[in-house]
Amino acid sequence: MATTTEELEKRREAARLGGGEKRIAAQHAKGRLTARERLSVLLDAGSFEEYDMFVEHNCADFGMAEQRVPGDGVVTGSGTINGRLVYVFAQDFTVFGGSLSERHAQKICKVMDMAMKVGAPVIGLNDSGGARIQEGVASLAGYAEVFQRNVLASGVIPQISLIMGPCAGGAVYSPAMTDFIFMVKDSSYMFVTGPDVVRTVTNEVVTQEELGGAVTHTTKSGVADVAFENDIDALLATREFFDFLPLSNRHDLPQRPCEDAWDRAEDSLDTLVPPSAATPYDMHELIRKVADEGDFFELQPAHAANIITGFCRIEGRTVGVVANQPTVLAGVLDIASSKKAARFVRFCDAFDIPILTFVDVPGFLPGVAQEHNGIIKNGAKLLFAYAEATVPKITVITRKAYGGAYDVMSSKHLRGDLNYAWPTAEIAVMGAKGAVEIIFRGKTPEEIAARTAEYEERFANPFVAASKGFIDDVIMPHSTRRRVAMGLRKLRDKQLENPWKKHDNIPL
Ligand code: HXC
Repeated sequence: MATTTEELEKRREAARLGGGEKRIAAQHAKGRLTARERLSVLLDAGSFEEYDMFVEHNCADFGMAEQRVPGDGVVTGSGTINGRLVYVFAQDFTVFGGSLSERHAQKICKVMDMAMKVGAPVIGLNDSGGARIQEGVASLAGYAEVFQRNVLASGVIPQISLIMGPCAGGAVYSPAMTDFIFMVKDSSYMFVTGPDVVRTVTNEVVTQEELGGAVTHTTKSGVADVAFENDIDALLATREFFDFLPLSNRHDLPQRPCEDAWDRAEDSLDTLVPPSAATPYDMHELIRKVADEGDFFELQPAHAANIITGFCRIEGRTVGVVANQPTVLAGVLDIASSKKAARFVRFCDAFDIPILTFVDVPGFLPGVAQEHNGIIKNGAKLLFAYAEATVPKITVITRKAYGGAYDVMSSKHLRGDLNYAWPTAEIAVMGAKGAVEIIFRGKTPEEIAARTAEYEERFANPFVAASKGFIDDVIMPHSTRRRVAMGLRKLRDKQLENPWKKHDNIPL
């Protein structure tokens, strides 16, 4: 008996050591934690239960038979985050560069299958040189097995990817199909082909960081959601983020005790919108003043910042927030912001998270580049996402709601449940000046000015829409939290179903 216990401990010790002290030191020297260290930060202390610690690869080519490391480059299992179940895998770069072998893939698939069976999120910590080169097609098959599971799990359990090292080749496609991607600055990279291949094929000279670093993907491409300074920041933020999410599409939203009064009035909101329609204001202020304790987890803050997306809580329950941001491009809807918000709305709808929309939008962005790059199809994504969503939808128009963008931003006509407007709201086909210049083309400047004033008088207010029932009430800004909280309570048991279909055909 004693021998067996010793043997077990010896084997466990070998597995915990991964690729050995030297490679662990190299990992630390790059400012990165090891796979196990990362899991210890991510999960509640003592909650991690590891599976498949003794799994080894099955490759005999290229001298691999002599190089076997228990665990095969990925640590998998389950644990809890603030007491709630989560399945995890963490690639171990110290073992064959965290590269994905057939067995490595099987380990990932096993936790994904378990998560699907019980209904719990999967968090993947990616740090890998991609396909295990020595294994050839077996490794490609392994990737495809993971991809297939990502797709089947989409909309059933939340899937979060942290990119904490290299992530190259086909390896990027599994994270791409998960719901959220967090990266670490100056330490993580995602690209389909690296700088060397790019130089050979296109003659472009680019660094790894420029091509696929955390800043690139959270600003330009929008592939990733948030960039963090280091491993610890990323892991701690993931814990915080996890608390917003339901465990699966069959679980209720998490409920956290709330000290913040549901009917808290915020008098400062009465002066948030400046007197001049051309003066911007920061929509974050409104979001934070409405949210419980001012807590808002923003997604993609640095990409398409003309629209804000993220999670807050009202009365302790998660709410998805979408808001036009007047300080960036006047809050206009363009290709990038439509795509960003559409994906977020669909996530909320899939997981029964109510959507709160704050509207101050001058319309869709005009321009040749926008038209040629498909603003029609891309703008339609957001329209489609709002229109198909059956979760509770509350909309507050703070200022402009012009043209097609008025329709798109969770209007009454797209089954908005509660549509409010502040007294400062202007709901019209377009701004007064633009409208008058079209209707009264060729008239004198004096006449244009007079007609503009007339148009403003008639349409620069919420009452025309309210008189038609398109706005349920015109509310005082300071009462926004109270009205939203009351609305969400009433909508908690909302029931609405779309017609049966195999699936829809959202314009991709
Ligand atoms: C096997 C690998 C490996 C791989 C790295 N290693 N990548 N072993 N298969 N794909 C091993 C190295 O041999 C080395 O072993 C250890 O991991 C660390 O690698 P280094 O190169 O020393 O580290 P570093 O300098 O930090 O560079 C990391 C790296 C580089 C940028 C990831 O290793 C690299 O470019 N690897 C190859 C990337 C690649 O081309 N992958 C295939 C992509 S194609 P020792 O024993 O020395 O510690 C693909 C197709 C999938 O993924 C398609 C699915 C649809």
